[in-house]
This record gives sequence, structure tokens and C-alpha cells, in this order.
Amino acid sequence: MNIIIAIRNYIIGFFYRNVFKPICFSQDPEIVHDKFTSVGEFLGSHRFTKFVVKCLFLYKNKMLAQNVCDINFYNPIGLSAGFDYEAKLTQILSDMGFGFHTVGTITHLPYEGNPKPRLGRLPKSQSLLVNKGFKSSGAKAGIKKLEKLNFKNPIGISIGRTNGNEDVTIQSQAVNDIVSSFKLWEESKVEHSYYELNISCPNLFGSASFYSPQNLDELLEALFKLGITKPVFIKMPINELDESVLSMLKIASKYNFITGVIFGNLQKDRSDPSFVKEEIETATKGHFSGKPTFKRSTELIRLTSKNFNKRFIIIGCGGIFTAKDAYEKIKAGASLLQMITGMIFNGPQSISDINRGLVKLIKKDGYASVSEAVGVDNKNKFNN
Ligand SMILES: Cc1cc2nc3c(=O)[nH]c(=O)nc-3n(C[C@H](O)[C@H](O)[C@H](O)COP(=O)(O)O)c2cc1C
Repeated sequence: MNIIIAIRNYIIGFFYRNVFKPICFSQDPEIVHDKFTSVGEFLGSHRFTKFVVKCLFLYKNKMLAQNVCDINFYNPIGLSAGFDYEAKLTQILSDMGFGFHTVGTITHLPYEGNPKPRLGRLPKSQSLLVNKGFKSSGAKAGIKKLEKLNFKNPIGISIGRTNGNEDVTIQSQAVNDIVSSFKLWEESKVEHSYYELNISCPNLFGSASFYSPQNLDELLEALFKLGITKPVFIKMPINELDESVLSMLKIASKYNFITGVIFGNLQKDRSDPSFVKEEIETATKGHFSGKPTFKRSTELIRLTSKNFNKRFIIIGCGGIFTAKDAYEKIKAGASLLQMITGMIFNGPQSISDINRGLVKLIKKDGYASVSEAVGVDNKNKFNN
């Protein structure tokens, strides 16, 4: 069976890289993205097309299954926030081989997005330029759509503060806005499994920020009063210094409803050595995904795992393209992983490729399951 899946993935990957990707990469990235999600929505709405997608992409292995914070994940690879911000893909991604996925970021009030261009490509740097600024149809529209559906995979809702609205620019307004959003989702009948609290979108108007411990404390205190019962993961920035991140984590650790953290969001630092000079010099306004996020997000996973050991479940996100990348984040302390850019550059079969590769790496190191490998780098160091 493994050999058949390997041949299947090779053929799909070859076709993707040599035919599909050159055509897509010659067109406007936002148009391609919109078409892709619309096709995904169509594929997820029919039994036959779902079956075909399963035959083309699915890979399952018991060694990858985990129960994390009382949620069953059949593998650790999720789709990160920002790809399915209009909740179109909830019926297809499990057939494509994802273990879970995040819808959003959805803001309380709608926003048409930052002025274009909002997306760009840096192919040599293996990165995407993002300047969407929380384009969103708003929480009420998202809830209306998702209440009608049930989900095979765990689904998370990413919540961030409303952008582009004069009434949501300063701190207290941002806190009220985020609390109102959580309230709507809590009162809804949507069967989501967890939340992401996105405090790290770098493309927003106004002065509100939750990076200072006081501001973060104020937000979490207000959310605590809602009595949220589903796990909440904070989506963290990767451009803060270690001390600043540790201060934020210390505040978050006071609140039991904060189950974990996600490292992390986009790369703001244009001097990161993984950028190819000629590409970064001509890049327009925005911040960056993919390879330039890999190193720092992994460092912060390790920092969190070492300093907060079992307090937080860590979701590793940023620059995962291969099984080796995924395994590095797992061994640094991530229980679950998320990705977007690797899939766009390498093709949709890369989810199955990464999961297959993970099984090989786990077996090679003598572990019986993926959960045994979580944070082993840090444990070994403590033991030595
Ligand atoms: C097109 C695009 C849109 C994104 N929008 C969001 C978003 O709305 N909310 C969020 O938390 N992260 C967003 N992100 C960041 C991703 O979730 C992820 O943290 C980052 O891209 C690093 O992962 P990757 O290298 O696998 O893409 C976006 C990323 C991309 C590429």
C-alpha cells in the first residue's frame, strides 16, 4: 500500500510542480486563492468528488493519531489560519489528508481588506507576502454559514480584532470587540472544537496591541469572565524578543482557559537571512510566510517548551515544507502543526507526503507514536 501511495504522490507532485503551479504562479495570487477555495467548496459538497479527493490525497496511519486537550486528531498536520477565512473548506480538508483546520481569522465586524495588492509571491525565498489586514465577512456571517454544517475533523475558529473601523482602534475598543466576537461564537450552535485568539496580525490600523503584559492581561481577564469552555490557543508573534514572549506567556499561564499557544504568525523582519535579496528589496507592503518564518518560530516553540514544560500545548506553525521541518518542530515541543505556504509551493499531496515522512522519522527514532516524540530535544538536554 505504501508504495502505491508513494507513486500516487510522486505523480500528483510532478503534475502540480510542472503544470499546475507555473500556470497559477503566472496569475494574480488573490484570484488564484479565491478560485482554489471555491473549487474546494464544490469538491466538498458532493459525495463522489469527496471520494475522488480521498483516493488522490488521503493517507492514514495510527502512529500519527493523538488525543490533545480531549480532542481527537487523526494526524498532527492542520491548515493554518488565513487560507479558509470564508469557511468554504470544512467539508473537504479531511479528505485531502489534513488532521484539523482553522477557519478565519474572522473578525467581529466585516472588513473588505487592506487596499490591493494584498498578496504576493517570493518564489526564490519560498515565501508569500501577506497584506490582507483581516479581510472578513464578520462573525455573524461566519456563524450563519457554519451552523448548518457538521465536521469530520476538529475545526478551530480564529478570532482577531475588527480592522478598518474607526470604532475599533484603541485598546479598550479592541478588547470589547474581541469579547463581543467570542460571545457570538459561544452563543452559536457551531460545532467547532477550539479557538485561536489572534493577537499577532501585523497588518492592522490603530494603536491597539496585546504584546505588553498589562494589555494582554486586560484582554484575557475580560475573556475569562465569559467562561469559555472550549480550548483557546493564542496565536503569537515571532518578532518579539525572548524576554517579551516569556512575559506574555507568564500572563497567559495564569488563565486556565488558555490551553496553548501557536508559534507563530508572519515574519516582519525583512533582514531575515532566508530572504533572497533581489526579492525582498522589491517586495511591497506586507509581511511574510514560509521559509523566513521557520527558524524563529521553531526557536520560540523550544523556548516555550523549556520554560513552560507541560503548561501549554504548543502548535508549531511557520515554514513547514517537508517531514523533516515538521519533525524538527515536534521535537522542539509542538504537539500539533499548521501550514499554508508549503502546500502552495509543493502541492496538495505534500500533506500526505509530510505525514508519511513523519511516520518514517518516528519509527527511525524508535518511538511508537508521534506524541512520544513531542519535545524530546528538550528532555534529552535536561537529562544530560
Ligand atoms: C495568505 C495568508 C493569509 C494569512 N492570514 C492569516 C490570518 O488571517 N490569521 C492568522 O492568524 N494568520 C494568518 N496567516 C499566517 C499563517 O496562519 C501562518 O502563521 C504563516 O503563514 C506561517 O505558516 P506557513 O509558513 O506554513 O504559511 C496568513 C498567511 C498567509 C500565507
